[in-house]
Amino acid sequence: MIKKAILPVAGLGTRFLPASKSIPKEMVTVVDRPAIEYVIKEAIVAGIEQIILVTHSSKAAIENYFDRNFELETTLVQKKKFDLLKEITEILPKNVSIISVRQPQPLGLGHAVLCAKAVIGDDAFAVLLPDVLVQNKAAENDLSLMIDRFNHNQAAQIMVEAVPEHLVDQYGIVDVQVSPVEGESMVMQGIVEKPAVGTAPSNLSVVGRYILPAHIMQILEQTPKGAGNEIQLTDAIAMLQKTEAVEAYRMKGQTFDCGSKLGYLKAVLHYGLAHPQLGAQFKQLIKDLNLD
Ligand code: G1P
Repeated sequence: MIKKAILPVAGLGTRFLPASKSIPKEMVTVVDRPAIEYVIKEAIVAGIEQIILVTHSSKAAIENYFDRNFELETTLVQKKKFDLLKEITEILPKNVSIISVRQPQPLGLGHAVLCAKAVIGDDAFAVLLPDVLVQNKAAENDLSLMIDRFNHNQAAQIMVEAVPEHLVDQYGIVDVQVSPVEGESMVMQGIVEKPAVGTAPSNLSVVGRYILPAHIMQILEQTPKGAGNEIQLTDAIAMLQKTEAVEAYRMKGQTFDCGSKLGYLKAVLHYGLAHPQLGAQFKQLIKDLNLD
């Protein structure tokens, strides 16, 4: 059973400056809650019970958001604002805990994952990159489907989606003989981090959701610096794939890259329209804009 998920949140978010100058990029609001809450909810829907934040001293706001706030709760009780009290105390279900480990140096995603080694122990685990929001139809959580597949065959699962050919150099790209259909997995022949345009083995890009065996940690310990002079998770997966089956899982849902400004605006539009209380009025607002 996959119960642990690593969320690397130590990155400084230079793509999101100036907003990320004094608040973590993961705390930027998408409609009415920080972006990272959507990612943690996605993990919880898939059965994750322990969230491991790999974090940095400037990111305390993330831990504070998921912690209790006695002073605020007491004030809300005194003011009899019980709806708000319920909302802020029920962000996480009782069976879910959040713990933090630090990434002392910015040595790359692979290094960030390795920082959680002691907490992972012998358990297989998920990795969710919080820049990317994954929106699924109800009851079609892609991460759950990846976990089901891993439970079935014990093969690591890497979530992918097709991207335009000219964007392949921004992502990890997988090499598959047969492209999986949406919602299914196929064994991959290789994976490469940010290949130059024209050299990529496919147009299937790594989305930022992984199910990995515990022993990838030993591989990460041996992984040399790769693209961008950083220790890349992609390179460790490429090594894993040489000794055991690793599968590309093609997602059904939609992604929003909240690390980029336009991706963020797109997320606000989609999540705003899907919001149970605000969606209808938000749609009307957009209609009222009278866009051509
Ligand atoms: C990371 C991964 C890359 C993946 C991407 C998804 O890159 O290294 O393989 O495709 O996330 O967002 P980054 O965006 O951190 O450079």
